[in-house]
Amino acid sequence: MTTVKAKRRSRAWFEKQDRDGFVHRSWTQKAGHPADEFDGRPVIGICNTWSDLTPCNSHFRELADFVKRGVYEAGGFPLEFPVMSPGETQIRPTAMLFRNLASMDVEESIRGNPIDGVVLLMGCDKTTPSLLMGAASCGLPTIGVSGGPMLNGKFRGKDIGSGTGVWMMSEMVRGGLMTQEEFTDAEACMNRSTGTCMTMGTASSMASMVEALGMSLPGNAAIPAPDTRRNRLAQLSGRRIVQMVEEDLTMDCILTREAFENAIRVNAAIGGSTNVVIHLLAVARRIGIELALEDWDRIGSRMPCLVNLQPSGHYLMEDFFYAGGVPAVMNEIRHLLHLDALTANGRTIGQNIEDAPCWNRDVIKPIDTPFKENAGIAVLKGNLAPDGAVIKPSAASPQLLQHRGRAVVFETIEDLRERLDDPGLDIDEHCVMVLKNCGPVGYPGMAEVGNMPLPKKVLEKGITDMVRISDARMSGTAYGTVVLHTSPEAAVGGPLALVRDGDMIELDVSQRRLHLDVSEEELARRRADWMPPPVPERGYVKMYVEHVQQAHLGADLDFLVGSSGAPVPRESH
Ligand code: FES
Ligand code: MG
Repeated sequence: MTTVKAKRRSRAWFEKQDRDGFVHRSWTQKAGHPADEFDGRPVIGICNTWSDLTPCNSHFRELADFVKRGVYEAGGFPLEFPVMSPGETQIRPTAMLFRNLASMDVEESIRGNPIDGVVLLMGCDKTTPSLLMGAASCGLPTIGVSGGPMLNGKFRGKDIGSGTGVWMMSEMVRGGLMTQEEFTDAEACMNRSTGTCMTMGTASSMASMVEALGMSLPGNAAIPAPDTRRNRLAQLSGRRIVQMVEEDLTMDCILTREAFENAIRVNAAIGGSTNVVIHLLAVARRIGIELALEDWDRIGSRMPCLVNLQPSGHYLMEDFFYAGGVPAVMNEIRHLLHLDALTANGRTIGQNIEDAPCWNRDVIKPIDTPFKENAGIAVLKGNLAPDGAVIKPSAASPQLLQHRGRAVVFETIEDLRERLDDPGLDIDEHCVMVLKNCGPVGYPGMAEVGNMPLPKKVLEKGITDMVRISDARMSGTAYGTVVLHTSPEAAVGGPLALVRDGDMIELDVSQRRLHLDVSEEELARRRADWMPPPVPERGYVKMYVEHVQQAHLGADLDFLVGSSGAPVPRESH
């Protein structure tokens, strides 16, 4: 840890005794800050993703107040600011289209303002990576505070998980196993408190990554949003960020290669989301850490899954918290972690998880009798995915992990929706469903549509899983034998674009193989016929499709990769 005191950048605004200093101080005082708050104390930006359009972050104004308390207690000066908040459930065509835009908002808001250290308030799926990415490109001392998961959903005496329960019940309705009325009744029962999805979906996986990376105080990931311990953690984080500024504990001290390797292992052990792969690749590339898609396979795929949570297992985040949360999991796999990785509290991961207890062995299994073996995300390669594709074996059907089947191809998501339940569709459970044009450029934004619903006539046989392949992502709450993130994607002419009905496809997860059984000559003929889709004409979407990188690189915009630090820009007047 460095202890060299850097000159605080906020002084470039607040200590000047001229016309400009007048402007910076006078207008800030309107909000009720007495003159002595400008005496050079650390100014802490609280980056808030509260929005009515992001219901998972609805409690963030209250959470920010607790952070502020902590900042004041430690002698800092808190200034809260809003940033774009792409909410997973409302924004179309997909929140992922706007992750990079939000990250630009975060980066420029930090750099352009009198801020010495940052608290990131993150919750709903994309709000975590966008804040981490934007902050990483500035690199100031930064601490994460997650919003926390909702309480368990409760429906007719049973727990139901957000996301996972929707996918399951909607298939039950289509298969005739649940009435429409029951399905509607479940709406009010599933998401009944503040907080993020309480399955181990993307929000909880990313919150666990924030903790595993060392970017938050220990325990950050699992405390339920309505539990008052969440507010206390926010308050303590407010205190701590002031010290971090005093210690000049910048983001690059924490986000090291070792921290990312720890995170990859933890994501496997918790049965975390496939989306984490893309987000952590993007964050790493912002901070200048070499991390490749292949690292996920090499470091994580042979890890056991210890955590029995939906969508891979049974329980929900509230149970996970009571069982000990991320510290208990990390303690269980401590022999596989870089224990000397530094964390936001100034201690190492090893110190933080020392003797972390597990209170429920049904929720967090011991390493010698894990919940699932070899359960980390696997990276597949082959002529169908030269730059890779991913699958989450813990959420797949074991008997489908090695499979050869006839392709049934859908050109777009609309094509799929139109034909899926057509009784004339030539498909059975042995087929491989292929969905094109849902990648970063194709959708655009790489939507969570990779867990395609199964055809009605297959569901009616009582079958609940088939091999599905696409260039899309899937919700972290989803499950099934689903190959995702196929790279390069169809819309840029990747081999996925060339698949046709009737082609044979081989999936062999143990060999990490994804093969299209069509000759090179035939593929070359098809490639000559391929036409790229039209490009959007204006606005952010135009910039996005012109600059977005493929999934195996993290789907960031090419010009955002890397960091510009946080030098003080020239004066505004
Ligand atoms: Fe916001 Fe799941 S939809 S966390
Ligand atoms: Mg999602």
